[in-house]
Amino acid sequence: MTSEPADSAFLRACRRRPVSHTPVWFMRQAGRSLPEYRALREGVPMLTACATPDLVVEITMQPVRRYGVDAAILFSDIVVPLKAIGVDLDIKPGIGPVVAEPIRDAKAAEALRPIEPGDVSYITEAVQALTKELGATPLIGFAGAPFTLASYLIEGGPSKNHDHTKAMMYGEPGLWHALMDRLTEITLGFLRVQLAAGASAVQLFDSWVGAVSPDDYREFVLPYTSRIFDGLAGLDVPRIHFGVGTGELLGLLGEAGADVVGVDWRVPLDEAARRVGPGKALQGNLDPAILLAPWEVVERRAGDILTRAAKAEGHVFNLGHGVLPGTDPDQLARLTDFVHEASAR
Ligand code: CP3
Repeated sequence: MTSEPADSAFLRACRRRPVSHTPVWFMRQAGRSLPEYRALREGVPMLTACATPDLVVEITMQPVRRYGVDAAILFSDIVVPLKAIGVDLDIKPGIGPVVAEPIRDAKAAEALRPIEPGDVSYITEAVQALTKELGATPLIGFAGAPFTLASYLIEGGPSKNHDHTKAMMYGEPGLWHALMDRLTEITLGFLRVQLAAGASAVQLFDSWVGAVSPDDYREFVLPYTSRIFDGLAGLDVPRIHFGVGTGELLGLLGEAGADVVGVDWRVPLDEAARRVGPGKALQGNLDPAILLAPWEVVERRAGDILTRAAKAEGHVFNLGHGVLPGTDPDQLARLTDFVHEASAR
């Protein structure tokens, strides 16, 4: 039996050390696919839940208890630090974050101030309580990366093509860099709060960065994600970096300074290992929609991922993006057991 998160299969795999079994967790493992989550959230707005430590602890624990996953992820949202510094925004059910006054000029960008631990004392409280309750199971802290946060702030809500975001990036590069600079400080501050309170690893979600080309990533995004990873380098915690549709960017996501590169389902894991190169672990990458198919299909696809993962220096099993709300929790329970057993053989 392990008794410290440091000995856990999850942290060992992130550090590319030998493991007794492949560790598993699922992006959005807490959420609407769980009846016990829906019951707790009844009548409680999303951002209220995120600011209530008792609810954060309970919702974070639900999938750990139900599935026996190898890591917990803090129940929160990427827009929580923005709300905490005074941005007028809400999370609308079925839509996502909606910003009352989209940021389109220097004055609005300059109003974004750095985050102080006192702005999110409920996060500190929740993380401290969770690390106690979790014992040897590691807690993953997380934040949205500057590009993805910028997209919500500039568009005013979810966006398919990120038109306004790209218009600013290409047309007003000075304003773009000023905005990214501020978001970098906020993201770094938010991650430091979670690590100071006891989180064992962090994941930086740049969910929508797959919308840019490698050259543009290098010019407009990488300097900021690098600053975030460099800013955490002395803390000796694994840094995971994930985005959707990032097949052409996988090498750059690693170059930005991540220890673990998250892969969506579009690139087979052995090919992802080739693109990312040596010295990094991989996380992924079952298409979340596969879980809507019969178990036999899930088992075959998960087995294929484990085979391909032999080409990676370390592997954390996950989905290629978040659990879909219509997923049967029993499929996730079975998948967790399957990965544990098949990888231990
Ligand atoms: O993974 C987990 O279990 C931890 C919880 C988590 C949430 N949001 C809870 C949540 C995490 C890691 C996030 C991050 C997040 N939020 C991202 C990056 C991850 C990704 O999916 O790419 C993004 C892009 C957001 C923005 C956001 N917040 C979206 C797109 C949505 C979904 C809107 C909807 O209702 O379909 C949210 C709301 C949200 N965040 C929910 C949850 C559980 C659903 C709200 C609800 O249950 O009412």
